[in-house]
Amino acid sequence: MKNIYPNIFKFNKKVLKYAFNILNLNQIIAVPTETVYGLAGSAYSKNAVKKIYNIKKRPKKNPLIIHYYNLKSADRDIYINDDLKKIYKKLCPGPITFVVKRKKNSRIVRPASANLDTVAIRFPKNTIIRKLLKKLNFPLAIPSANKSSGISPICALDVYDEFKKNVKMIIDGGSARIGIESTVIDLTGKSQILRPGIISEKKISTILKKKILILKSIKKIKSPGQIKKHYSPGIPMVLNYNKKVKNAAHIVFGNKFKNYNNAFQLSKKANLEEAAKNLYKIFRKIKKLNYKKIYVSTIPNKGIGVALNDRLKHASYLK
Ligand code: TXA
Ligand code: MG
Repeated sequence: MKNIYPNIFKFNKKVLKYAFNILNLNQIIAVPTETVYGLAGSAYSKNAVKKIYNIKKRPKKNPLIIHYYNLKSADRDIYINDDLKKIYKKLCPGPITFVVKRKKNSRIVRPASANLDTVAIRFPKNTIIRKLLKKLNFPLAIPSANKSSGISPICALDVYDEFKKNVKMIIDGGSARIGIESTVIDLTGKSQILRPGIISEKKISTILKKKILILKSIKKIKSPGQIKKHYSPGIPMVLNYNKKVKNAAHIVFGNKFKNYNNAFQLSKKANLEEAAKNLYKIFRKIKKLNYKKIYVSTIPNKGIGVALNDRLKHASYLK
């Protein structure tokens, strides 16, 4: 049978070498991470970074996250402060991104961080991406592998859905373990969460032994993910709707509306971790089924629920 996904590659040693070669040519590939799949290119290459912005149709003012193998390899590009060291020791590699100050002689190309004096850095845990980062002589700029403002991909086929054959190589590492993007924390001033994720403010607060702010105001553009339509299936969405609906998709949490074929279950057991893993999968499914409207039942706003409600709020913006 003809391979209809010629750019999807199951990971093995040969694929690792191929990926390494493509990245060294300043081209881009799609990679798995433990949060969502991303589009990766050298953060030291203007060309690679330009390709990432172009293919995603991403506004130039929305900076990328730079992914490193470990803290030591980030040292040449950014200032490492005590808070970063403390959180790194407890949670990295893992699903958390730090906004820190850029060094003057940093080699990260300016457009990768939208010409800001700060850089967002992350140390992903997924073993495939770690193998690549260990082998490369440069860090990788990796935004989620979706068209700007759309749904993040959680498996190789989702990436194919977004870009078809326009990405040379999509490494298939199975379903992303977490399913939503990393927590983003700004460590340049008063520690502040810019994007909630699976790692909660409470966890960070315990490590740093101080209060952590959560950015609520969307007045100041600190993290572009905060200000407009994002993570969106492109279908009108009504939140906190707990009655049965007709002729529309209903995303539900907890064992509700059984035998009701418009209901899409985030987690029957009302488990927030499971709900995070299912959210984008369900968005894509509903989109494919051509529904014209989505209703979402209430999700408790604590722990991972804070991150889920953040994604739902952004996804419900129409522009
Ligand atoms: O889990 C993740 O973080 C995934 C995987 C692939 O690693 N990546 C990801 O990247 O979600 P992206 O580009 O989709 O989201 C990056 C977020 C955006 O909200 C962006 O505004 C913020 O990080 N960001 C990047 N650099 C920043 C900076 N210097 N200051 C403030 N926010 C920044
Ligand atoms: Mg994204």
